[in-house]
Amino acid sequence: MRRDLGGVIFIDLRDRYGKTQVVFAPQHHEQTYEAAKALRSEYVISVTGKVERRPTGTENPDIPTGEVDVVITELAILNKAETPPFPIEDKVEANEETRLKYRYLDLRRPILQRNLLVRHRAYQITRAYYDKHNFIEVETPVLMKSTPEGARDFLVPSRFHSGKFYALPQSPQTYKQILMVAGYDRYFQIVKCFRDEDQRADRQLEFTQIDVEMSFADELDVQTTTEGLIAELWQQILHVRVEPPFSRMTYKDAMEKYGSDKPDTRFGLEFSDCSTAVANSGFRVFSETVKKGGVVAGFSVPGLASYTRNQLDGLTDYVKSLGAGGLVYMKVQADRIECSVEKFVAPEEVKAMANALKAKPGDLCLLVSGPWQKAYTILGALRLEMAERQKLIPEGKWNFLWVTDFPLLEYSEEEKRFVAVHHPFTSPKLEDVALLDSDPGKARARAYDLVLNGNEVAGGSIRIYDSTLQSKMFSLLGIGPDEAKSKFGFMLDAFKYGAPPHGGIAYGFDRMIMLMTGQSSIRDVIAFPKTSSGISLMDDSPSNVDQRQLDELHIRLKGPSTK
Ligand code: AMO
Repeated sequence: MRRDLGGVIFIDLRDRYGKTQVVFAPQHHEQTYEAAKALRSEYVISVTGKVERRPTGTENPDIPTGEVDVVITELAILNKAETPPFPIEDKVEANEETRLKYRYLDLRRPILQRNLLVRHRAYQITRAYYDKHNFIEVETPVLMKSTPEGARDFLVPSRFHSGKFYALPQSPQTYKQILMVAGYDRYFQIVKCFRDEDQRADRQLEFTQIDVEMSFADELDVQTTTEGLIAELWQQILHVRVEPPFSRMTYKDAMEKYGSDKPDTRFGLEFSDCSTAVANSGFRVFSETVKKGGVVAGFSVPGLASYTRNQLDGLTDYVKSLGAGGLVYMKVQADRIECSVEKFVAPEEVKAMANALKAKPGDLCLLVSGPWQKAYTILGALRLEMAERQKLIPEGKWNFLWVTDFPLLEYSEEEKRFVAVHHPFTSPKLEDVALLDSDPGKARARAYDLVLNGNEVAGGSIRIYDSTLQSKMFSLLGIGPDEAKSKFGFMLDAFKYGAPPHGGIAYGFDRMIMLMTGQSSIRDVIAFPKTSSGISLMDDSPSNVDQRQLDELHIRLKGPSTK
């Protein structure tokens, strides 16, 4: 940045460590002053001069070097630069596509430098922490066997073995468990994972995990070790004390109170179940739902009894877009309760619902009815929407929460079979093993997620290490002995040779850094991220490849490639 005031030229000289104002004037060095006239933004220069205190009144208290100037007597232009497509400042107006295309310029911005520095510090603290606790870092393969784990695999064709493919790891799950069988006791790795799934602000096709596994450990061992690292990261990087042990909440409670398996507990708007209040209602939508095992539930928003018809129609459209049949509301006035379905619901039922929701005068109560999972999930989204509208989410809070007791299995209507909620190696709770025969959908897993301010930052479980239980799990998942052998045979074989009880966890490293740095997208904490459609704009990947490369890989494209 150059300011030419006629007779004196000021340059903001930027490097990794900040900005310094350097001054060129003819009285200091005539030739250098003349040469400085050619300087433009982003030129790379080398200067020699004398550090001087700035004249009184011209100091800049906002920057660390704001009290000094460097008066220059020698200048060398090491390289010129074209005018950048956007100014290198934190408050850039440029859209994200331009920033990603010119990522090397974007990365010069102080905010991204700070984010990457926080990330760097977090790597160092993580490594030191696990090393101190006797964990060893082991690298696991990036080219591996395709094993179904939830998301879609990225496949890599083999040139040597025509028609065969490697997969990129969705996580090192199988390897870290095998390392436990191999006696490595305590493992960690900061590792890239690859998942071919839809992108969001907190998801990338390739992302980084802190991956951890421990032998002879139960839930509390894994959680306590995790809390220790979190406390160190927050202390050393943010100078914030977070106090383990973190709160714990079961999945069932999280859903029934907050409508989410990653509840944001920084604010209230907790739900209440009104099903008993309306179980026998003449309003069939309610009574039929309850009869079928569903719920009528909702929450009160203070001060919104004045919401207009139009605003309420907007909310109704919102919940309908999420799949709800409709939205029932009650406006609680001092003397009466106005209810959107008062024509069908008896006044005492309206009162009972308001009581269940602990509604006070001035509150707006919002209710949804439907099957348990669906109704609560919709309420969960509505709760977040209302909190944002009412600005109820406080800044500067770090609410860590362990969500526990997840269901082990989930019935897939599409596939007409149970699928693992976590992965097939997750152990059921020992007291629920009998349910695997009688009512598998009710069995709970020894799985836990670490949630921070409504974001899932880590997830893990205690694993199955007993081959009989593992076979049972496979058969519940509809994986027959032959399929189990071909997909997981290596792991089942390993488990025959003395597998210790073990469990672990993986942190979403990018997500954690995103939250620590106050960013709203993980793209801002990854040096070279991809767009939401999975494109790297800077180097333009994915891209077409030569026919020769395809031939070597024994690949014939089905149709013409798109670009
Ligand atoms: P899981 O699939 O829950 O567990 O992943 C662990 C954590 O990784 C983060 N994460 C992601 N971050 C960015 N982009 C993505 N596409 C993405 N997907 C997941 C989340 C999540 O909590 N092997 C198991 C762990 C275990 O059981 O030990 C696993 O990978 O923050």
